[in-house]
Amino acid sequence: MSFVFLFLSTQARWHHHHAKHKHGHHHKVSEISAPPDGAPEPSTPLVPEPSGPVAPEPSSPVAPEPTSPFAPEPSMPPDHDGNASDSIGVFDVRKFGAVGDGVTDDTEAFKMAWDSACQVNNSAVIHVPYGFSFMIQSTIFTGPCQGELVLQVDGTLMPPDGPEQWPKNNSKRQWLVFYRINGMSLQGGGLIDGRGQKWWDLPCKPHKGMNRTALSGPCDSPIAIRFFMSSNLTVQGLKIKDSPQFHFRFDGCQNVHVESLHITAPALSPNTDGIHIENTNNVGIYNSVISNGDDCISIGSGCFDVDIKNLTCGPGHGISIGSLGNHNSRACVTNVTVRDSVIKVSDNGVRIKTWQGGSGAVSGITFSNIHMESVRNPIIIDQFYCLSKNCDNQTSAVYVSDITYESIKGTYDIRSPPVHFGCSDSVPCTNITLSDVELLPAQGDLVLDPFCWNAYGELETLTIPPVSCLMEGIPRSILDNKDMGYC
Ligand SMILES: *[C@@H]1O[C@H](CO)[C@@H](O)[C@H](O)[C@H]1NC(C)=O
Ligand SMILES: *[C@@H]1O[C@H](CO)[C@@H](O)[C@H](O)[C@H]1NC(C)=O
Ligand SMILES: *[C@@H]1O[C@H](CO)[C@@H](O)[C@H](O)[C@H]1NC(C)=O
Ligand SMILES: *[C@@H]1O[C@H](CO)[C@@H](O)[C@H](O)[C@H]1NC(C)=O
Ligand SMILES: *[C@@H]1O[C@H](CO)[C@@H](O)[C@H](O)[C@H]1NC(C)=O
Ligand SMILES: *[C@@H]1O[C@H](CO)[C@@H](O)[C@H](O)[C@H]1NC(C)=O
Ligand SMILES: *[C@@H]1O[C@H](CO)[C@@H](O)[C@H](O)[C@H]1NC(C)=O
Ligand SMILES: *[C@@H]1O[C@H](CO)[C@@H](O)[C@H](O)[C@H]1NC(C)=O
Ligand SMILES: *[C@@H]1O[C@H](CO)[C@@H](O)[C@H](O)[C@H]1NC(C)=O
Repeated sequence: MSFVFLFLSTQARWHHHHAKHKHGHHHKVSEISAPPDGAPEPSTPLVPEPSGPVAPEPSSPVAPEPTSPFAPEPSMPPDHDGNASDSIGVFDVRKFGAVGDGVTDDTEAFKMAWDSACQVNNSAVIHVPYGFSFMIQSTIFTGPCQGELVLQVDGTLMPPDGPEQWPKNNSKRQWLVFYRINGMSLQGGGLIDGRGQKWWDLPCKPHKGMNRTALSGPCDSPIAIRFFMSSNLTVQGLKIKDSPQFHFRFDGCQNVHVESLHITAPALSPNTDGIHIENTNNVGIYNSVISNGDDCISIGSGCFDVDIKNLTCGPGHGISIGSLGNHNSRACVTNVTVRDSVIKVSDNGVRIKTWQGGSGAVSGITFSNIHMESVRNPIIIDQFYCLSKNCDNQTSAVYVSDITYESIKGTYDIRSPPVHFGCSDSVPCTNITLSDVELLPAQGDLVLDPFCWNAYGELETLTIPPVSCLMEGIPRSILDNKDMGYC
């Protein structure tokens, strides 16, 4: 029963998530990224013609009875009895031949379960049962589906173990992709195990801790879970660990609700961002714990209306907006709030990073009530972001404005100053507001001075350490240039 309740509440939630129509230049989504490798057209059998006034049994002949005698508690919803329009179909992957011994390739069974569930007119549950480990290859689950889908993962999902085991003809950049889905919940108490170790050990990866030198050779590594051009998505409850690369990536999505995830990877695992979003809007990320080897959350170009609350991040690289404006691109990010969160033992706390030579704007960003523990660069804006250390300075930059830091407290790692605003020479950062900032050294009592370069804004309260390097007002170069930060 609680199973059904969870499902219904998932559906109900969307009534509060009506996508608002956005006006004005600040909200134009810049550009859609390339489709996933080898993204197929949705296969035609996914949308069957209704064959008569009485709705037929939606499942194909291969689809078994939806309930299983082995179904774990809580018990499954009742059979559908020929009435497709008001029942919830449950598709247990084992009924499609999945073995779940952690060795057998269960890809085909998952695809069949998906195709059957995707044809159900109302809503369907694909069930991955507790107590089994399913090994599946890189797969693109394609919509649009007839109704809403729940992928209920109570068991374990895992990819092949490392690049050697990866089929030659499969993309090495992504593992599970959900493409063109409207209305889906990925949920459950199960585990997604990315088995990243052999990918992190590729010679091309910086062997941090050992040599830090990256050698040549193939380097593509799969993102564990990717949602692409989809909407009305919920991801909740799952544990996910050791992705070869990013754990989650959303591109070109709307209405994304992420809740109660537990993401872990070793602190030295390369490029294992927790959740990356790009060209995605109306995003809520709540009540989750993320520790990994890269950004906890990273927010790329084209994102707006993002609400992040009650995260525990670290060890890792903190919460990042950027990097933006690479290769002279236009990047726009607006209306992002991060609040009531803890960031610990991380290279950065809350960061905005842009490349020289970009354009566009980052604006309307609020960081509120964030507790830092031993964080290098707890507060940082870096408009000189550069991986090679010798990027040329350019006159164009992504304009950073209207950035609020309130109640940012805790300790910083004394290797870097606690506050760093490094803004471009030609495009200063404006309207940076600080209040209730109290950052103390994690070790000893060496207090480092905040760093500002070309940064404008004000203090609403005294801060610890005192920030006296912000300039007042708005510089002429910004006032005179009406096109500054056009998005
Ligand atoms: C699916 O639902 C639509 C609208 O709700 C209805 O018109 C259509 O007949 C249904 N098809 C089947 C196969 O039940
Ligand atoms: C399907 O369910 C609805 C609502 O419970 C009912 O009115 C309808 O008669 C049922 N149709 C069939 C074919 O059982
Ligand atoms: C990859 O090759 C295998 C065996 O040749 C084949 O069964 C499978 O369909 C191929 N997969 C893709 C995605 O092309
Ligand atoms: C580490 O770097 C040194 C040169 O700095 C090189 O001689 C050595 O082979 C490297 N070791 C590994 C494991 O890459
Ligand atoms: C998302 O769900 C809402 C509410 O159910 C619906 O109005 C909206 O059309 C859906 N979004 C898309 C892109 O279909
Ligand atoms: C914050 O998230 C944690 C899980 O990380 C959860 O246990 C806790 O209840 C959440 N707090 C609130 C106020 O929702
Ligand atoms: C900012 O985003 C939130 C959702 O995170 C939304 O409720 C709010 O209306 C947005 N504000 C503006 C000014 O668009
Ligand atoms: C770019 O400009 C900054 C600030 O003026 C300066 O510190 C830095 O050295 C410059 N970098 C290069 C490569 O010229
Ligand atoms: C400064 O930023 C804050 C927060 O985004 C905004 O409310 C305020 O209007 C901005 N002030 C100016 C002068 O633009």
